Amino acid sequence: APNRDLKGLTVMVTAGPTAEPIDPVRYLTNRSSGKMGFAVAEAAVRRGAKVILISGPTALKPPAGVEFTGVETAAEMCEAVLERFPAVDVVIKSAAVADYRPARAAAQKIKKNTDSMSIELVKNPDILAELGRRKEGQVLVGFAAETSNLEKNALQKVAGKNLDLLVANDVTQPGAGFGTDTNIAKLVYPDGSIVPLPLMDKLALAHRILDEALALREGKK
Ligand code: PMT
Repeated sequence: APNRDLKGLTVMVTAGPTAEPIDPVRYLTNRSSGKMGFAVAEAAVRRGAKVILISGPTALKPPAGVEFTGVETAAEMCEAVLERFPAVDVVIKSAAVADYRPARAAAQKIKKNTDSMSIELVKNPDILAELGRRKEGQVLVGFAAETSNLEKNALQKVAGKNLDLLVANDVTQPGAGFGTDTNIAKLVYPDGSIVPLPLMDKLALAHRILDEALALREGKK
């Protein structure tokens, strides 16, 4: 029989990239496929959790049984996440949220009548940091996509954003990060301890993250 150890818990998962409009036909985005976050949602629903999946644009089908909200921009993701946050037990933030967005989205398609142009970018809200400030007993799990100084950056994020756990992946390693069916992660805790994991399927990593989130939750009770 499947292990229903998350029954009674509400797990909110974010997934995918965000898309930040430049004009009606163009946007800024990143290489996230949504696979990592969708795997977490699928693993959690199989284990009996009530699952809220909030995702940017992907080619994936939401797993059966999850409550799905599709968003485009970081601002929309932020609103959807903050609205539900008070009623959830665990948050797993696998989404690759754009740090910046174009200051203005042009109302009409931008014409190619200059040899060069620049787009002014302004900072997006840091959703995870805001959750860290609002946290009232929820287990808060962040992700970190790094290309250098993985451990140093991860330790800064876990402390600076008031997280319970950070899943850090070096996205330059083959088999890790964006687009693949596998990942290589390090679990980084606020006490500074780091547990390196081997290459594994994103679904297996999802289960491992949920094991940790459940243990953290039970430690809190
Ligand atoms: O979707 P896949 O193709 O399967 O790829 C998986 C993945 C590489 C996207 C995933 O494993 C991953 O690393 N996700 C986090 C990517 C990321 O944006 O990392 P970051 O170090 O920039 O952000 C750190 C954390 O802050 C993340 O939990 C992110 O959701 C959050 N964040 C970032 C910026 C922002 N404005 N708001 C946020 O909440």
